[in-house]
Amino acid sequence: MNIAIDGPSGAGKSSLAKGLAKYFGMIYVDTGALYRAVGLYAKRKGIPVDDVTPVEADLDTLRVGLCYKDREQHVLLFDEDVTALIRTPEISMYASAVSARPAVRAFLLETQRRMAREHSVVMDGRDIGTVILPQAEVKIFLIASDLVRAKRRKAELESKGICATVEEVLADMQKRDRNDRERETAPAVPAADAILLDNSDLTEAETIEAAIAVVKEKMKI
Ligand code: DC
Repeated sequence: MNIAIDGPSGAGKSSLAKGLAKYFGMIYVDTGALYRAVGLYAKRKGIPVDDVTPVEADLDTLRVGLCYKDREQHVLLFDEDVTALIRTPEISMYASAVSARPAVRAFLLETQRRMAREHSVVMDGRDIGTVILPQAEVKIFLIASDLVRAKRRKAELESKGICATVEEVLADMQKRDRNDRERETAPAVPAADAILLDNSDLTEAETIEAAIAVVKEKMKI
C-alpha cells in the first residue's frame, strides 16, 4: 500500500505522514527534502535564487539520496548528511525555485518511485498523487488557512533557533505556494481522486486520527 500526502507548505504534511507511517508500520518519505538538498547545492555553487537554470548543467554528476537512522529520514548530498542544513527560509526559497525546473523534477523522479516500489510508503510532497504515484491507494490533499500555516511554520522555525515575524513567514509562504501552484510542470494541485482534509481547527493528533479514518475507509480495513 502507498499513501500520497500533498498540500501547501505548513499544512502539517510531514507530521501527518510520520503519524500514518507509525500507525500502519510503513516508511515515511519527505520528498521536499530532496528538492531542498538540490537547493542547498545551488546555493553553495553561488547560483542566484532568482535564476537557478545553471543547476541543470550539474545534474549528471549530482547525487542526492535518502537513508534512515532510527526510523528518521536523512537526506544526503553526495555523501554528506545535510538533514540539519536544509530547513532555513533561504533554502525553502531555493527548493521552490529548483523544483520548478523540469530537469530537476526528472532527476528526482526515480529516487521517489524506487522508494515506493521497494517499500510501503507514506510519501509527502506536492505532486505525489498526480505525478509520482498516480496509482497510490490513498491520496490526501492537506490544507489549512494561510494564517494557521504561517503560525505553525513560525513555531517550527523558532524551535530551530530561527526568529521571524508571522508577517514575514506568511509573505514567504504565500510567494512559495504561488510558485509551486502556478508552475507548468507538476503544479501543487490535488489529484482528481484526492481527499481534501482541512486541518485549520484540528490538532496534530486529531489530523492523524482523521487521516487514519480516511485510509481505513478507503482500504476497507
Ligand atoms: O515540503 P517542503 O516545504 O520541504 O518542500 C520544499 C519545496 O520543494 C516546495 O516549495 C516545493 C518543492 N517540492 C515539490 O515541488 N515537489 C515535491 N514533491 C516536494 C517539494
